[in-house]
Amino acid sequence: MSEIVTIGSGNFVMSLRLPDRGMPEILNLGPAAAIADPLVEVERASRINGMDIAVPSAVLLSTGGMGFFGWPAIAGHRSGRDFVVQFAGWTVQRAANQIMLSATDTVARLSLSVTLKEHAGGVISIATTLINDGDSDYHLDRCMAGTFLAPAGAVEVMSFTGMWGREFQTRREVLGNGIWAQENRRGRTSHDRFPMLFVEGAGQRFGVTLGFSGNHQMVIDRTDDGRRLLHLGELFEPGEMILAPGARYESPTAYAGPDTAAFHSFVRGGLMTWPHGAMSPRPVMLNTWEGNYFDHRMDSLKAQATAAAELGIERFVLDDGWFGRRDDDTTSLGDWDIDPRKYPDGLKPLVDHVTGLGMQFGIWFEPEMVNPVSDLYKAHPDWALTIEGRPVLQSRTQLVLDLTRPEVSDYLFSKIDAVLSNHAVSYIKWDMNRDLTHAGGGDGRARIAAQTRAVYALMDLIRAAHPGVEIESCASGGGRIDYGVLARTHRVWASDCTDALERLEIQRGASRFVPPEILGSHISASPNHQTGRRHTLSFRALVALAYHLGVELNPLELSADERDELKVYIETYKRLRDLFHAPGANFHMEPVDGRYVWGAVGAEKIVLIVAQGPQMVNEQPAPLVLPEHVTRLGGAWTIRTVLPAQPNVIRISEGQTRLLSGAIAFNLESAGMVGLPLPMLRPESAMLLELIPSKGGKIHG
Ligand code: GLA
Repeated sequence: MSEIVTIGSGNFVMSLRLPDRGMPEILNLGPAAAIADPLVEVERASRINGMDIAVPSAVLLSTGGMGFFGWPAIAGHRSGRDFVVQFAGWTVQRAANQIMLSATDTVARLSLSVTLKEHAGGVISIATTLINDGDSDYHLDRCMAGTFLAPAGAVEVMSFTGMWGREFQTRREVLGNGIWAQENRRGRTSHDRFPMLFVEGAGQRFGVTLGFSGNHQMVIDRTDDGRRLLHLGELFEPGEMILAPGARYESPTAYAGPDTAAFHSFVRGGLMTWPHGAMSPRPVMLNTWEGNYFDHRMDSLKAQATAAAELGIERFVLDDGWFGRRDDDTTSLGDWDIDPRKYPDGLKPLVDHVTGLGMQFGIWFEPEMVNPVSDLYKAHPDWALTIEGRPVLQSRTQLVLDLTRPEVSDYLFSKIDAVLSNHAVSYIKWDMNRDLTHAGGGDGRARIAAQTRAVYALMDLIRAAHPGVEIESCASGGGRIDYGVLARTHRVWASDCTDALERLEIQRGASRFVPPEILGSHISASPNHQTGRRHTLSFRALVALAYHLGVELNPLELSADERDELKVYIETYKRLRDLFHAPGANFHMEPVDGRYVWGAVGAEKIVLIVAQGPQMVNEQPAPLVLPEHVTRLGGAWTIRTVLPAQPNVIRISEGQTRLLSGAIAFNLESAGMVGLPLPMLRPESAMLLELIPSKGGKIHG
């Protein structure tokens, strides 16, 4: 019997059969019980005009040329030769939670090792290393990180697209006969092609994602027997990955998990590393961007910090505009010295003021960039990624520095380190505001793969030198959110669009892979700076409340009433954040008729946030049928708190008024069957409901 290896546990395992020659056959992905040894031992028959031998088509990291006719996940050549790759002689090395499979191709002179791991939450991962054992260069055209197996028949793919200001738009489509592919060539994770998707069909559902912030490829190929192979890996520019003799290629990591809960628990328990070993309660932030832009005035910033502290804000983040001569977005990136015009005594007076108020101080950097109008560019025009003879394309009037050059990374480290070492900084907003174009090094060869790794290395260095500092990953909003960057950061800025209506879809989409406590969500001014829409403070606050809450406006511009109202929401966040951010507590429901519902469930409290996006089509809202894992708690419950106290309803019945006032105790199981008959909200408004067990409460009281 050929050797079978299995990775994963519980209801989500992947089993592989190791062949004498060729790639491991994927026997299943899903419940372990699906593997019945005598059945998998039966060879499959190919049709009569197929191959004389049955070549398995559902294989890990398929290679072409030897009877597999699908999409090759590994491909390359040695100056045109060795275009056929076939590994043999598989060995298995086991360690805690991990299996390493290795094999060699003695003809093409390559060796391969594939590391399979099982992680917290039931997520499994695959990463691949390929080594050139020959004595000449090997041109690697493609080497995917891993492959997963999806069923035959009608399979639906849920993927995420978008643009600046409108990230994480959920798209669903049914797979056809051809290849489904997503390729990202932007040199950062991108706004439009997130390396994440879910597949669903034939009773099976799971998600996959690539932990990588550079170019990527996700390909779903149809096998000879109608099933699907999902390949995830890095996308190389032509000639980008040439392996010298003895050199190795290490892929990013591809992940698969059964559902959102598994991904969240992996992010919390396996991926992220927190200063001091554990996440602290997520502090309410004030981010200065929309309230000040480049107009930094010390007196006003200090007064804003004082006002922020009075509102209950716990972290003050100084955004773009504090360095060089940065009065707009056309200059100074690269000149990471404090602007003496705006800060004649340096940043210290502001930092001291902020920390003196008991708040943490955070600061914005965009390390990878340079404006042509800067001292840095004047001194080192060759530090930017360019290709000789080609026009230099600017985006937001900036260019990308070649971080693969040690002198460039050293320079950036010393500049960031100086600010961090000389001030009580506990947070960096690490931004990255352009796509990579003509990303060539001095030798004219593509540098995206190496650049992405160099950015990670710089982040790792900063973290090692300043282990108490948290980092936020921002890239024109949500352009760099993935499990590669999340292994070294602590928060993501999901979108530059702070409009609460837009945020409903953005946050719902991002939440499929990102737990709420690391998803930054800010209450900004009305009218909204990106869309011009006007929203009540309650709608803006409630849409942000369950995530990592921030405020992005000038608090000095608030009226006394607005300040009081904002205070209530900040207090509510602080009261509820342990529940919102508790492992396994949060949930999102599918929107129905423009009504979005999300929240968190604990033994003593259930919090529901109900938001109406567009106006309803139906004459009455459908009763809110709560999800099974919420109603499972059972028992009698009542609604204790409603925020705002007078929800923005179109119509409310006498019974609904009593329900919201807590006069009615109801059985939680009924809320999962009959549903909660909530009132009809006005479009672009929301309410928060806190449910508590009704001690001795009379059902239908
Ligand atoms: C990007 C970010 C914003 C802000 C600006 C500053 O657009 O996404 O949040 O930091 O840069 O220039």
